[in-house]
Amino acid sequence: MDLLKFFSIKQNRINNFMFALLETLPFQDTLLVDAMKYGVLLGGKRIRPVLMYIIGKMFQVNLNVVDVLASSIEFMHAYSLIHDDLPSLDNDILRRGQDSCHIKFGESTAILAGNSLQCLAFNILSRLDKFKISNARKIKIILELSSSAGVHGMCAGQFFDLSLKNTSVKPFELEQMYLYKTGSLINSSVRLVVISSKIFKKKFLFSLEQYVKNISLAFQIQDDILDFIDDKNCKNTSVHYSNCSKTHTFPLMFGLQESQRKLKILYKNSLAYLKNLSNESIDIRLLEKLAYYIITRVK
Ligand code: IPE
Ligand code: IPE
Ligand code: MG
Ligand code: MG
Repeated sequence: MDLLKFFSIKQNRINNFMFALLETLPFQDTLLVDAMKYGVLLGGKRIRPVLMYIIGKMFQVNLNVVDVLASSIEFMHAYSLIHDDLPSLDNDILRRGQDSCHIKFGESTAILAGNSLQCLAFNILSRLDKFKISNARKIKIILELSSSAGVHGMCAGQFFDLSLKNTSVKPFELEQMYLYKTGSLINSSVRLVVISSKIFKKKFLFSLEQYVKNISLAFQIQDDILDFIDDKNCKNTSVHYSNCSKTHTFPLMFGLQESQRKLKILYKNSLAYLKNLSNESIDIRLLEKLAYYIITRVK
């Protein structure tokens, strides 16, 4: 199947699922719930959910189970972006081309909306009770998400990112920080689905995780390249669109050419790991296309 078609079908699916879920929350029409909906529903490429639907298709996981897992990841992701933009973190006034959550709703509401979305990510996982997933697997799922989002993963990465400001950083250190702040949740997206699969074999895990590692790094570097180009344009027009004070991204530290060279290497590596999976008769075509999308995306 064509990736873009798959992408748009699954984007719609997860958007509808999350919309319906958010409508069931208490205190509708309060600023708190409005801010939560704003952080989740307004834009967002849904790359993590799409990756999860691909993995679910590859390893025969019930689509309704993937809906639950993917919305849980996307709520966690939405919370991370709301908090990432706060004045004490990146101090960004725009997100997805619109006012950041704290600009639109105020800082205290944005903090609480982020906290509530983080809790909702775990709350939604309780819906797995409807499906035939053993309690042992459910506990593994909770362990996985709580680790990847917290000090074992994303939050540590966010902390490293903020601590690196204005210090000299080696490419390896930058990559490590990227793997924590961005790679952890993407890796967890895949792991939540494979934990739920009854046909997934342990021997696939190494290659799959190496693929994810390469595409996660590529995803963050491409994100930085897009910001870099955007910032250059906004400096030219003297409009301050995004957080131009970043000092330690791949393109800022090593230049655009080197960043693009790095992207190509990561892409090639990701395909090499997929080859191991195709040798096991697994259909890797959508994952190949997703890797290409990641290094060529323009937004
Ligand atoms: C932005 O993530 C932050 C990074 C980890 C690079 P996305 O680019 O997936 O954000 P949305 O949800 O599509 O806006
Ligand atoms: C965001 O990283 C990563 C997380 C929210 C965990 P960045 O700060 O680099 O991403 P943008 O540029 O704000 O989307
Ligand atoms: Mg940040
Ligand atoms: Mg940021």
